Amino acid sequence: MWGGRFAEGPASVMREINASIPFDKRLWRQDIAASRAHVAMLGAQKIIDTADVQAIDEGLQAIAAEYEADGVPEDLDLEDIHMHVENRLTQLIGPVAGRLHTARSRNDQVATDFRLWVRDAIDAMDAGLAAFQSALVARAEEHADTLMPGFTHLQSAQPVTLGHHLMAYYEMARRDRSRFVDARARLNESPLGSAALAGTGFDLDREATASALGFDRPTDNSLDAVSDRDFALDYLMAATQCALHLSRLAEEFVIWASQPFGFITLPDAYSTGSSIMPQKRNPDAAELVRGHSGRIAGSMTALVMTMKGLPLAYAKDTQDDKPPVFEAHDLLALSLAAMTGMVETTTFVPERMRALAESGHATATDLADWLVREANVPFREAHHIVGSAVKLADDRGAKLDDLSLADLQAIDDRIGESVFDVLSVDASVASRSSHGGTAPDQVRARIAAAKQALEQGE
Ligand code: ARG
Repeated sequence: MWGGRFAEGPASVMREINASIPFDKRLWRQDIAASRAHVAMLGAQKIIDTADVQAIDEGLQAIAAEYEADGVPEDLDLEDIHMHVENRLTQLIGPVAGRLHTARSRNDQVATDFRLWVRDAIDAMDAGLAAFQSALVARAEEHADTLMPGFTHLQSAQPVTLGHHLMAYYEMARRDRSRFVDARARLNESPLGSAALAGTGFDLDREATASALGFDRPTDNSLDAVSDRDFALDYLMAATQCALHLSRLAEEFVIWASQPFGFITLPDAYSTGSSIMPQKRNPDAAELVRGHSGRIAGSMTALVMTMKGLPLAYAKDTQDDKPPVFEAHDLLALSLAAMTGMVETTTFVPERMRALAESGHATATDLADWLVREANVPFREAHHIVGSAVKLADDRGAKLDDLSLADLQAIDDRIGESVFDVLSVDASVASRSSHGGTAPDQVRARIAAAKQALEQGE
């Protein structure tokens, strides 16, 4: 490509360190689309003549068909996908292929291709997250009334419904989608025409290539456009946040599937056995979702470190932007699909959830609230009184609502018969009807709103 200036070829290690084809061949569709938009614009601007435009465009389409059928060949001498395409074009149509690179550089080319790729990745994540949300909403609807212990510090805290718990992840996924959507909006400007770094003297129509490629507008500064990779970092940061959310749910599935909990049975399709312990049914998929989140965050950190301290404009360090993005994308797509599958197919065990909800004195706060409401006791004092009741129940190995009225009145004589209306887990859950609370009616209202949003593509 630059043979005019060089007497010798590269050392083999140079060839190897320099090449990006082993990974950037994933950009081939975007590279060909951007070249077709560029050559059409060069023709429309009368920078190259119509017959050449046609030959180049047909050649590019032929290459796309070849790559589609046989994959992209990997020749380390041809550094990257841009040179592979141009080299093949030259083989197919001869020297006229050399006109394609008029008013263009690999610097604006790669910036354009990669934006297009990340844009597709964002759209794929949005679709994946919408499917994940639909799965959560469907299971939440099924279990809007199913009681389970709610935890803080992983200690039984207050009873909640399983529907409410699942809908918490719907909300996280909603924000994840909005982060990807934000990233897409900022990304959607076309670098094409920025050339190597300073723009070009050719009379380009950058609006035309931008719109042909679905960009909202051309970028406004050529130095910025060829060198920054904040769009890739936006993607990786949104992906990392999404992976963290999936990892939290994965961790809950691991805990819930354990024998001491027994809240769920994972289907065979998402479990593995042990080669030595026949009774085992391991939640490997959930553990890998949890594990992959670390690798995704690592990919994000890798690109952060690559970009730190790079002077304007393009530097070859930037070539290292692609592997972390591809790795994070593949891991996140898999994690999302696996988590969606597990949510869809797992068997919840409501009896077990209820038994644990009833066993951890989870209605202690309800008793304290009753004292505040019905007996005008200051909350701190009520908290103390209930602490004594919990201790008494523990000493007897009983539940709070197993204590008799006489037991409770011995602790505080302001306690009356109606306290038993709030001590059951069902009453406790039904009473938490503030907006966004766990009461089944509240949860059902949120589910209805979520279904409507999903139907509208939100
Ligand atoms: N393979 C390069 C990359 O991915 C393409 C740009 C090369 N530009 C250059 N000036 N060497 O970044």
